[in-house]
Amino acid sequence: MQNILLTGGTGYIAAHTAITLIEQGHNPILLDNFVNSSPKIVPRIAEICGKTPSLIELDILDTQSLTQVMRTHNIHAVIHFAALKAVGESVARPLAYYHNNVVGLLSVLNAMQAAKVAHIVLSSSATVYSEDAKPPFVEDAPLAANSPYGQTKVMMERIINDIAHTDPNLRFAMLRYFNPVGAHPSGLIGEHPNGIPNNLMPYIQQVAIGQRDYLSVWGNDYGTTDGTGERDYIHVMDLADGHVLALAHLLKGEPSFTVNLGSGEPVSVLQLVRTFEMVTGQTIPYKIAPRRAGDVAVLLANPQRAKDLLGFSTKRTTADMCADAWRWQKNNPNGFSS
Ligand code: WQD
Repeated sequence: MQNILLTGGTGYIAAHTAITLIEQGHNPILLDNFVNSSPKIVPRIAEICGKTPSLIELDILDTQSLTQVMRTHNIHAVIHFAALKAVGESVARPLAYYHNNVVGLLSVLNAMQAAKVAHIVLSSSATVYSEDAKPPFVEDAPLAANSPYGQTKVMMERIINDIAHTDPNLRFAMLRYFNPVGAHPSGLIGEHPNGIPNNLMPYIQQVAIGQRDYLSVWGNDYGTTDGTGERDYIHVMDLADGHVLALAHLLKGEPSFTVNLGSGEPVSVLQLVRTFEMVTGQTIPYKIAPRRAGDVAVLLANPQRAKDLLGFSTKRTTADMCADAWRWQKNNPNGFSS
């Protein structure tokens, strides 16, 4: 059993990963400032896996306290989830994004060095791939982001690569998520974005529950199967499995690595809507709207390296994603406050 520090620990992906870590016999310690999440998720995690993870309220920018936490909890590895992650918001608030995401990572790395923690798993994103890269993206494709959020992820990867190059004790796993969706099958935890959801699946969920009148489909004139944007959706529980496999690979003493976490299967906006309707029996009214600024036609992973290196491949289907997302939404119309 290893003590694993999850920064951003009460967030959507971190909380699902904590459950899988506990089931694998690890001891995840959740650290969060609750700017984008709720501590109310912790009793739900306990209800699911029978163990209440430790919870520490702290801002990752408080390097001294963070170092102290790593020492007193005898942390063996850090999974760094804590980051602001809304592409549109990052255009309006670049300083907050660079400060929280980039300076925040430097704070975590300084604390790790002081506390002699040698392993980090970084939550990265498909958004780092340049628009010039051809999907399905392979990991050594060119990187160039077109939003401050994406830029912070490119910089975070570069920082970790450069530090690991000079510090032989630091080894990393860089995980480039494609589009995480869905919820734990218990329906007890899931994604609850603040305000109007930017992302497709949470918006569909809120239309299904009657909180939104209809879905705006941002463009149907892309060069895709049905003209709407195609993405590589990955069930959040598959993503959790990917983190546990990546951590195990690092803890075995293997060299640092970067992998995509995706299915390699394209799903269009209208295909996701249709699958959601078929699986849940709910009707999702929609209207075709102009393209959203910054959107690309296709985001798709080449999942081969994660398969070869970690033995990882996605297991849950698009129908599973829709069924699990709907169960969470139906049971918790107001997220953790309901
Ligand atoms: C998916 C598709 C939209 C909403 C973003 C970030 C990425 C990652 C995941 C953090 C696109 C269409 C969406 C709607 C729509 N986040 N859409 N109507 O933009 O692929 O990825 O979230 O790491 O970094 O870039 O996800 O869910 O916003 O959009 O038609 O109301 O759905 O045009 O084709 P995206 P998304």
